[in-house]
Amino acid sequence: MLQIHSYWAYLVLLVLILAVGNSLLGLVKKKSFTDKDLRLALFTLILSHFQLLIGFVVYFNQGWHKNIGAMMSDSAGRLLALEHPLTMIIAIALITIGWSKHKKKTEDAAKFKTIFTFYAIALFLILLRIPWSNWFDF
Ligand code: HEM
Repeated sequence: MLQIHSYWAYLVLLVLILAVGNSLLGLVKKKSFTDKDLRLALFTLILSHFQLLIGFVVYFNQGWHKNIGAMMSDSAGRLLALEHPLTMIIAIALITIGWSKHKKKTEDAAKFKTIFTFYAIALFLILLRIPWSNWFDF
């Protein structure tokens, strides 16, 4: 499961970066919001939700929830037991809010702007709290 979580992270980051770039481009170039833009944003939502599920399985399988207290004194443990999961949950919630808010907008620019704002903050949070040293086994 950890391996799937580890590989899935590449997919999530890739589509999220594409969605952020695409929505920025759409906004700046005043493009119309097409099916392609919708699908990219939706795909990002689905892949990130799947990552959330895998993350929960890894978290409980490895028993991190039983050790939160003990992990707080050490920064690597705190990252995995608390900071990473919590930050990722917030990031995925932002993606979800961005997705549902964009659907209510009628203007194309407003759709791009909503996706861009929420997805970009989510990307920033994810990059901030990925356990990079575990991922690349430094
Ligand atoms: C967008 C969402 C997420 C991304 C991009 C992500 C990414 C990653 C990456 C790259 C690693 C390092 C994997 C490795 O060691 O090879 C990792 C580890 C981990 N993730 Fe996530 N994750 C996400 C969400 C979550 C969530 C929601 C949870 C828990 C509720 C979670 C729990 C964990 C745990 C416990 C580990 C450490 C496992 C270990 O090294 O023993 N992740 N995550």
